[in-house]
Amino acid sequence: MSEPRPSVNPPLGLLAELTHRCPLHCAYCSNPVQLVPAADELDTGQWRSVLDQARQLGVLQVHLSGGEPMSRRDLPALVEHAHALGCYVNLVTSGLSLTDATATELVAAGLDHVQLSIQDADARLADVIAGVRAHERKVAAAAVVRRLGLPLTVNAVLHRGNLDHVGAIVDLAERMGADRLELANTQFYGWALRNRAALLPTAAQLRAADVVVRAATERLAGQMEIAYVYSDYHERRPKPCMNGWGSRQLTVAPNGDVLPCPAAGSIEGLALENVRTRTLADIWYDSSSFNAYRGTGWMREPCRSCAFRDVDLGGCRCQAFLLTGDAANTDPVCSLSPHREVVDRVLSEQTALVPPPSVPRRMPAARNGGAS
Ligand code: SF4
Ligand code: FES
Repeated sequence: MSEPRPSVNPPLGLLAELTHRCPLHCAYCSNPVQLVPAADELDTGQWRSVLDQARQLGVLQVHLSGGEPMSRRDLPALVEHAHALGCYVNLVTSGLSLTDATATELVAAGLDHVQLSIQDADARLADVIAGVRAHERKVAAAAVVRRLGLPLTVNAVLHRGNLDHVGAIVDLAERMGADRLELANTQFYGWALRNRAALLPTAAQLRAADVVVRAATERLAGQMEIAYVYSDYHERRPKPCMNGWGSRQLTVAPNGDVLPCPAAGSIEGLALENVRTRTLADIWYDSSSFNAYRGTGWMREPCRSCAFRDVDLGGCRCQAFLLTGDAANTDPVCSLSPHREVVDRVLSEQTALVPPPSVPRRMPAARNGGAS
């Protein structure tokens, strides 16, 4: 195992974004506006090497994600490799290809957990959000996961169009037999930021949802854990994004770029490293991108002298960049930020306007086929 450098702990988790290809067209997609084309994806051998290096670094949890990771034909081989290294392997999927046959193959390869996305509780509305007929296949996929005895997390991204249905979404997750339900209000990165005016919920919607989620959390305690991610624009304190930059997890993008968080590619001027040219250990410990916002030394006022700086770590670097143009600024969600007005303006415009239609996500046409 690589020796940790003083004051930098090894990572615990790897988010392996195997591909940006995806059969769904969700307007809330947080993947970058410029997706990695299939022809630029790492191949099987390169992903195996990423997994080897991640394990050597200390990674114990591998999240195979995308896009839709089941678009990769080598998924069972990668699951098998991560499992053989002793990692806990989680599949983050839309579930459209998760049939008895494919799920059985993945379980035999060593898959430990499935995280399945749903778009709404009602099949018709869910399919409108997904941009494709998907809902019934997701319900069937959940049944397969349960039949095979794997733990199941259901994930629903919440927004203006489905937040009022949160109670029905909880009921659906319960019927699916989920062990855990993530109710995540849309975070505005990548494609989702383009659709912010359409997706941002109102304060009244959030208040109503809060009551429903609290009641469900109490009712289902011990049966189904509910994790609720707030709509941070409506909060006065920012989220401790990623539990701190470069502190617990690293992301490898489909083309091998290594990122301190999935949205870090949006920060202009951040020199991203790639597994094709540098080792993961080197990147984790010694790269300028991973060291840029580690700890609290990079902070400016008001964060630098704030009592909350070790609690929220100044919020989110990507959001600071996207909303203020400088990733070293305080996250403008914070009421102490000199840029809070940016968020307040968005909120006041949103309550005054009829939301525009959202723009569905589409993968650009393939150039030369795919890596898998
Ligand atoms: Fe957190 Fe910085 Fe706001 Fe203080 S000023 S609460 S550290 S974001
Ligand atoms: Fe990148 Fe928060 S999403 S630091």
